[in-house]
Amino acid sequence: RRKIILDCDPGHDDAVAILLAAGHPSLEMLGITTVAGNADADKTARNALQVCEVAGLPETLPVCAGASGPLVRPRLPASKVHGSSGMDGPVLAQPRRALAPEHAVDFIIRMLRESAGDVTLVPVGPLTNIALALRKAPDIAARIEEIVVMGGAYFGNKTPAAEFNLYNDPEAARIVFESGAKLTMVGLELTHQAVATPAFLAEVAALEGAVPRFVSELYAFVTQTYKAVYGMDGAPVHDACCVAYCIDPELFTTRHLNVVIETRGEYTAGMTVIDRGGVTGRPPNVDVAERLRQERFWPLLLETFARYGQD
Ligand code: BDR
Ligand code: CA
Repeated sequence: RRKIILDCDPGHDDAVAILLAAGHPSLEMLGITTVAGNADADKTARNALQVCEVAGLPETLPVCAGASGPLVRPRLPASKVHGSSGMDGPVLAQPRRALAPEHAVDFIIRMLRESAGDVTLVPVGPLTNIALALRKAPDIAARIEEIVVMGGAYFGNKTPAAEFNLYNDPEAARIVFESGAKLTMVGLELTHQAVATPAFLAEVAALEGAVPRFVSELYAFVTQTYKAVYGMDGAPVHDACCVAYCIDPELFTTRHLNVVIETRGEYTAGMTVIDRGGVTGRPPNVDVAERLRQERFWPLLLETFARYGQD
């Protein structure tokens, strides 16, 4: 089973990513780490615990809270899309389970140092925790099997140039993209092929159990906000795409390209500058995800949600 650490900021699509990662037999999720992003750090940590409770995940799965904001910039709000809790829609009780005592950054470092070089990091929020881990323990870069990032784009959703996760903490993104670790970038060009349509949501709603109901409630909310904010008919399940890639890399086509992160542009901070034309001479450092095999992706989600009801 492929070992992953899911670093997230739940988040509607982050919640789906957690459910897919915890529910799929070919992955071993070593822990969930949380970061400020879609909401403040205390809220994203609480939301992660709530997802674990809804899904009945084992208490032995650690949830470690991490950075409370970007490395150098103020935190951006995301409440127009995700609501004030960061995960509005379902009505959930306060979680009974507790956070693990270890800080997310220390957990990531420890897991990598204790590993045989077979742990994949899956950051699906701002890259603050991963950057801090790389700064605190540079030796870990060589021990990471792969980093599968949800972030970046050929077009932006936060500014015309930048995607939300990388715009939130461009300096952190730069550290990660320059780390030398094997990196796959799952940007908006890929995740906007993963829009949860009414037809897909009807299939989710037809499944039995608490998990499909939870997903339905999450996507009822975020479908509305995506309409209001972006005029889109359906919200993508961005973060779950990264997890799906860890389960089956054949779900994507990718291109190996040079990508650098803009940190200083007046209009372009957080932009993924992708050398598609090969004009810079800089060596390729990132596998950029380009196409999603939707005919395999949607069944993967449905099968995994359905499995929760059967245990
Ligand atoms: C990303 O931003 C967040 O709001 C989502 O959870 C996703 O990780 C998409 O740009
Ligand atoms: Ca996210």
